[in-house]
Amino acid sequence: VTRKSTNITAVEHRVTPDARARRNGHTGGVLWLTGLSGAGKSTLAIELEQRLFAKGYQVFVLDGDNVRHGLNANLGFSPEDRTENIRRVGEVAALFAEAGFLVVTAFISPYRADRDRARVAAGAGFHEVHIRAGLDVCEGRDPKGLYAKARRGEIRDFTGIDAPYEAPEAPELTVDTGALGIDDAVQLVMSYIERTFAIS
Ligand code: PPS
Repeated sequence: VTRKSTNITAVEHRVTPDARARRNGHTGGVLWLTGLSGAGKSTLAIELEQRLFAKGYQVFVLDGDNVRHGLNANLGFSPEDRTENIRRVGEVAALFAEAGFLVVTAFISPYRADRDRARVAAGAGFHEVHIRAGLDVCEGRDPKGLYAKARRGEIRDFTGIDAPYEAPEAPELTVDTGALGIDDAVQLVMSYIERTFAIS
C-alpha cells in the first residue's frame, strides 16, 4: 500500500523483545495457518490456543470469520479484498508478536504474495503452516454447507471452486489433516511450537 502519512517518527520501546520473552518463557511470533475452507484451520487453532494457554503461553487466535465481523467487516472475497484482509491481519499479527504473544492465525490466505507480505511484516518469528487436505476431503466435510452453496452458484468466488488457492511452496510445517486425526495434528504442531518458541 502507499503510505499517506508523512512527518511521522517512530518511538522507541524501552521494554525489549528479550525482556518480554524471558517473562513469558517463550518468544513472540506468528504461526500462520493457511489452507482451504474446511481443512481444519480454525479447529486446530482453537485447540492449540487452549492447550498453550494451559501451559502458560501468551497466545491468541486471529480467525477469519471473527475478524471479518469487526476490523474487516468492510471486506468481501474479491481478490483485492482478500489481499487487504490479509494485509491488515498480517500487521495485527506482527503487533501482537511484538507485544510478546504467540499469535495463531487461521485464514485461508489463498495468495502466496499476501502471505509473503505477512511474513515480512512479522519478521523472523513468522512460521507458515500449511493445513493440507484435498478439495474432495474439504468438500466432503463441508461443515458450513458452503461448498454445496458454491456448487449451486449461490456463493461466488469460493476458494477451490471458482477462486484460486495457491499452496505454500516452502512452509515451515505441513499438517496433513486428510491423513491425521485432530489429536495427532495438534500434537504435531504443539511439539513444533515448543521446539521453536519456548525458552528455558
Ligand atoms: S481469505 O481468503 O483469507 O480472505 O478468507 P478468510 O478471511 O479466511 O475467510 C474465510 C471464511 O469465510 C467464509 N467464506 C468464504 N471462504 C472462501 N471463499 C468465499 N467466497 C467465502 N465466503 C464466505 C468461510 O466460512 C471461510 O471460513 P473457513 O473457516 O476457512 O471455512
